[in-house]
Amino acid sequence: MMQPIFPNSPKKFISPLLKWVGGKRALAPILCNLMPPLDQINNYVEPFVGAGGMLLSIQPKKAVINDLNAELINVYKVVRNNPKELLLELDKHINSVEHFYKIRDIDRSPSFAKLSVIERAARIIYLNKTCFNGLYRVNSQGFFNVPYGYYKSPNYREYSKVCAISEYLNQSDVTILNGNYCDTLPYIRKGTLVYLDPPYAPVSQTSNFTGYNPGGFSYEEQTKLKKFCDTIAEQEAFFMLSNSDCSLIRELYHEYKIHKVRAPRAIAASPNSRGTMTELVVTNF
Ligand SMILES: C[S@@+](CC[C@H](N)C(=O)[O-])C[C@H]1O[C@@H](n2cnc3c(N)ncnc32)[C@H](O)[C@@H]1O
Repeated sequence: MMQPIFPNSPKKFISPLLKWVGGKRALAPILCNLMPPLDQINNYVEPFVGAGGMLLSIQPKKAVINDLNAELINVYKVVRNNPKELLLELDKHINSVEHFYKIRDIDRSPSFAKLSVIERAARIIYLNKTCFNGLYRVNSQGFFNVPYGYYKSPNYREYSKVCAISEYLNQSDVTILNGNYCDTLPYIRKGTLVYLDPPYAPVSQTSNFTGYNPGGFSYEEQTKLKKFCDTIAEQEAFFMLSNSDCSLIRELYHEYKIHKVRAPRAIAASPNSRGTMTELVVTNF
């Protein structure tokens, strides 16, 4: 007998705590319409969880989430385990240019290693809300390098959101991993829904294969990821993959169903280039 992992009653909506490139909060309703029948899903796996736009929209009772970004995953763990201490730590921050650069540049000094997990989580949330455009970007040495955003009243003390996410993570069976997406394979079996939202392939010759982490997500990684999706399908699990609408992705996944969706672009280099763009959702069902 399969245990359903989605509650019958409508869920209270939770939006992500962090602004994240490629965040799926706005696209989640469209993605939900593409999901397989809910009573056939017994586990949910998200190998590239980012800020959790999809996870927090559907709030499965059983899930495995993963991301390569250690600072991001630390935020999930601290929100789950120490929400009160995290909120007290966030209260210590102030919105000023001097304080921003002092906190941002801690990662260049030996004192970074001495920060507690709570201080590290508060630092990332504070920087995410006060830096330019809410970007997460590190240089080749792994140092956070986004400049101050000069926002009048950035909201980095989001008490109700921290409490809501913490409550969800504590009341559900959510395994939190920090590694490569392949590390989620042991959790994928018949009836698992795997939603993959990797760094996207470039849409044109002029855009690059850039990454969120030093090293980036290369052409070879996109082809390895396709093989990973084949393995998911062989396990009789369901996969849904988001990626850009480009010939590489259409060719790689030609044997699967390819859906074209319109996605809002929340983070762009300039406000003028915001708007919507088409992207692809590939499914094996
Ligand atoms: C498009 S974002 C995901 C956005 C997410 N869906 C959201 O709603 O915020 C891609 C994520 O993949 C992560 N990532 C990049 N390479 C990875 C890898 N090899 N394994 C696991 N995660 C990776 C990045 O750190 C980033 O958070």
